[in-house]
Amino acid sequence: MAHIPVLIKEVLEYLDLKPNQNFIDATVGDGGHAAAILEKTSPNGKLLAIDRDSDSIVRAKSKLMEFGNRVLYINDSFGNLASIVKENNGLANGILFDFGMSSSQLENSGRGFTFSKDEILDMRYDVKTPITAEDVVNEYSEKELVEIFKKWADVPNAIKIARAIIQDRRKERIKTTGELVKIIDKTIKRRGRLHPATLVFQALRIEVNQELAEIEKALKIIPEILKQGSRSALISFHSLEDRLIKNWSKNLEKQGIIKILNKKPITTSLEEIRINPRSRSAKLRVVEKT
Ligand SMILES: C[S@@+](CC[C@H](N)C(=O)[O-])C[C@H]1O[C@@H](n2cnc3c(N)ncnc32)[C@H](O)[C@@H]1O
Repeated sequence: MAHIPVLIKEVLEYLDLKPNQNFIDATVGDGGHAAAILEKTSPNGKLLAIDRDSDSIVRAKSKLMEFGNRVLYINDSFGNLASIVKENNGLANGILFDFGMSSSQLENSGRGFTFSKDEILDMRYDVKTPITAEDVVNEYSEKELVEIFKKWADVPNAIKIARAIIQDRRKERIKTTGELVKIIDKTIKRRGRLHPATLVFQALRIEVNQELAEIEKALKIIPEILKQGSRSALISFHSLEDRLIKNWSKNLEKQGIIKILNKKPITTSLEEIRINPRSRSAKLRVVEKT
């Protein structure tokens, strides 16, 4: 299934873009939000389209072909925003972050982002990232596994799962998502709707890509690259991301650097969740540079 951009109406409303403004999409993905932004900023607004995954850049290029050289594509992490912006343009009229992964990555990347497919245990957005999920699963100590399971996803039964992994990998290296799911299934009884592997996979993905650290780096730089009165919209998908963004924005507001435009995060309507179930955990926060 193609990726459906989340909260698009709300994002556009809050960003309040005008013709010919320049914008940064820090997570261009399949280009869904970007296409709508480029329409709003036509005829001459430029877009810096960043993504850590070179396959996402390929998909975005195909989706955004009609906008030609109004779009500049950068295959890098938004953690490097400071240098990307310095090298490529000046201040922006707005920045969008739509964290996490796209439906295309989940379903078609073959990199093991989902426990519902038997694929290699990779989970890197950028194939140049030095460690894979296979490395984490096979090389972290029991203590380290428990720590990341708890820290990144509050995995219930983290110790039990870590022990089962250690036990199993003594026989042979764990190489696929299918093998990992089998170990979890053998160890934990499923209760309720959430498959016990869901949170383990989230923790591994966050660890491999150092997702929170990259977000923290990007947040630091946002006030420096926004023009006065310009806005940044940030869409998060789990509580760790949202808490980071909430605390960051409160802190900057106290210092008079930004204004928070929505005290409570904007969430998806039942109608949007019906059409796009993956949008259900999305939370949008918007800030304005003062
Ligand atoms: C939810 S998708 C974005 C979807 C996009 N808004 C759309 O409408 O198609 C998130 C994207 O962020 C990318 N990403 C994740 N971490 C990143 C990082 N640190 N720097 C840049 N891109 C990142 C992923 O590769 C993925 O393509």
